[in-house]
Amino acid sequence: MGAGKAKFEGSFTQQEPLPEDAIAAALDVLRHGRLHRYNLADGEAGEAALLEAEFAAHTGARYCLAVASGGYALATALRALGVGPGEPVLTNAFTLAPVPGAIASLGARPVFVETREDLTIDMEDLAARAGASGARVLLLSHMRGHICDMDALGDLCARLGLTLIEDCAHTMGARWRGTPSGRHGAIACYSTQTYKHVNAGEGGLMISDDPDLMARAILLSGSYMHYPRHRAAPPPEAFARHRLTTPNISGRMDNLRAAILRPQIPMLDARREAWNARYRRIEEGLSGAPGIALIKRRVGEEFVGSSIQFRLPGREGAEIADFVAACAGRGVELKWFGAPEPHGFTSRYAHWAYADPPVLPRTDAALATLLDMRLPLTFSLEDCALIARIIREEAEALGGAG
Ligand SMILES: Cc1ncc(COP(=O)(O)O)c(C=O)c1O
Repeated sequence: MGAGKAKFEGSFTQQEPLPEDAIAAALDVLRHGRLHRYNLADGEAGEAALLEAEFAAHTGARYCLAVASGGYALATALRALGVGPGEPVLTNAFTLAPVPGAIASLGARPVFVETREDLTIDMEDLAARAGASGARVLLLSHMRGHICDMDALGDLCARLGLTLIEDCAHTMGARWRGTPSGRHGAIACYSTQTYKHVNAGEGGLMISDDPDLMARAILLSGSYMHYPRHRAAPPPEAFARHRLTTPNISGRMDNLRAAILRPQIPMLDARREAWNARYRRIEEGLSGAPGIALIKRRVGEEFVGSSIQFRLPGREGAEIADFVAACAGRGVELKWFGAPEPHGFTSRYAHWAYADPPVLPRTDAALATLLDMRLPLTFSLEDCALIARIIREEAEALGGAG
């Protein structure tokens, strides 16, 4: 880095403070001490049960369950569908480690599906691998908020007899053609971990319209026989069918996290707008930059731009590593999905050796030069303009056409 070059001083991992009403609600829970979701005073609903009712209403789902993490939600969704050891489960090759990890946690087998250039699942390959593996479940990850054509995917799943679980860890608050992300499959799972669209440190949410799936999920999560205390749960008959045959695999959410989350649910729309303003500012700053290719977003995809991805087409690994280092030297943190070794939160399918992944040439091509950047809401629009300028200058400094 030469003298006089601008440097960004902000933090890529600093979130906004929690809203004051979330802090007040958390203090109330701490003061009364009833943190366990089933520890309720007479007539009290409890924060966890209220959160479930409010998130169900927000998404339009009939039922909702709050759990300990997004990864736990994914595993519970698979268990609720009866996925068992050795069973193949289709999933995107472009996702993060908790997704195949949830499949592996049941002793089931991830079957990775190829990735299109726009970072969504390759439906042709999905059909081929569904046929070859005999899988009956697709765990679809809306990775980094990229939503495929959900109408086409729904038709394909129906044709292939696949049950769809949506991993909405990166699409809470997003929509496909006006329908909330998570309303296209049998079950959807969300994460409420700090780097997601609502922040409780850890946590997860599941939604479904299916009474049997949700009764099983609630029982699995460790409801003991307290399920009547839920407010976004199926009717007693559904529990009667499953209560003695469903194991307790505890992973409940507590009232403290739920209290922190409740005031954040109505903020999701405003947060989407705030994130997208930042996303668009970076996109504007990078558009037309020599050597940089942005990912085209599809019509109908109302995404949440909490991160942005772009490529350096034609660049070799060493050049990309130098570029990432040069940006880091100027305060801009990029993650490279083509890196030979996993780093921090970032890994890719080839690194998950336990799942014995095949070589997926289209995914390799899609990820080889792919860079990824978080956009915390603590960045101002001016910050975003500066970040884009730094990236652009460093891409120009690479010289020669990539
Ligand atoms: C794509 C994706 N799915 C699922 C999860 C799981 O969420 P959690 O960290 O709450 O277990 C994550 C978390 O990073 C994720 O990135």
